[in-house]
Amino acid sequence: MKKGVSFLVTVALVALVSSLASASDPSPLQDTCVAIDEPKDAVFVNGKFCKDPKLTVAEDFFFSGLDKPGNTSNAVASNVTTVNVEKIKGLNTLGISMVRIDYEPYGQNPPHTHPRATEILTVLEGTLYVGFVTSNTENRLISKVLNKGDVFVFPIGLIHFQFNVGKTKAVAIAGLSSQNPGVITIANAVFGSDPPINPDVLTRAFQLDKKVVSYLQSRV
Ligand SMILES: *[C@@H]1O[C@H](CO)[C@@H](O)[C@H](O)[C@H]1NC(C)=O
Ligand SMILES: *[C@@H]1O[C@H](CO)[C@@H](O)[C@H](O)[C@H]1NC(C)=O
Repeated sequence: MKKGVSFLVTVALVALVSSLASASDPSPLQDTCVAIDEPKDAVFVNGKFCKDPKLTVAEDFFFSGLDKPGNTSNAVASNVTTVNVEKIKGLNTLGISMVRIDYEPYGQNPPHTHPRATEILTVLEGTLYVGFVTSNTENRLISKVLNKGDVFVFPIGLIHFQFNVGKTKAVAIAGLSSQNPGVITIANAVFGSDPPINPDVLTRAFQLDKKVVSYLQSRV
């Protein structure tokens, strides 16, 4: 192989490997790496700055209060209580977090996606209609009605939702494969961005009347 060509191949391989490596949280490089906000006390970095492991205590791995429902008095009648690295600093570099989700009767966790995590959800109370949509080659809806004790998986990056179809409140707990999964609520991101997306874009993209677009932009 010519020197120039082999250099290009090497660059391409390095780019491929590093893009694969950064597709999810980096693997832990030590047993614990508790996040601290003050870099002057840090000893090394993997994700966030890490506390000196000698100073690690049980409280760094602890959160209390997931028995309490979130406040569901909002437009979608649901609430997600997030327990991620901001709540448990010891989650830093471990690639996992969890949430509690509360739903009023007919409340929903509207269509959204987690850019950095797969989600595994179980129903503690109530009945949820849940689903996700595959990417553009098919845009296939994979959906199911879940009852207490049922478990469902939402693959990383795919748009998904949960809707309480029961007459009583529903509660779910989910695990996510990132210390910081992120969330993009589709309606809010598209119609509620700051500054707003030019309405001409949304009118054509969603095949809507311009008045409907400006109405939607005023709502979220
Ligand atoms: C979810 O509940 C918490 C705690 O009750 C509250 O602070 C928060 O504003 C609620 N979020 C939404 C979107 O209603
Ligand atoms: C829940 O949120 C609503 C709307 O923000 C607020 O009026 C109400 O006081 C909150 N309830 C509790 C128990 O915090």
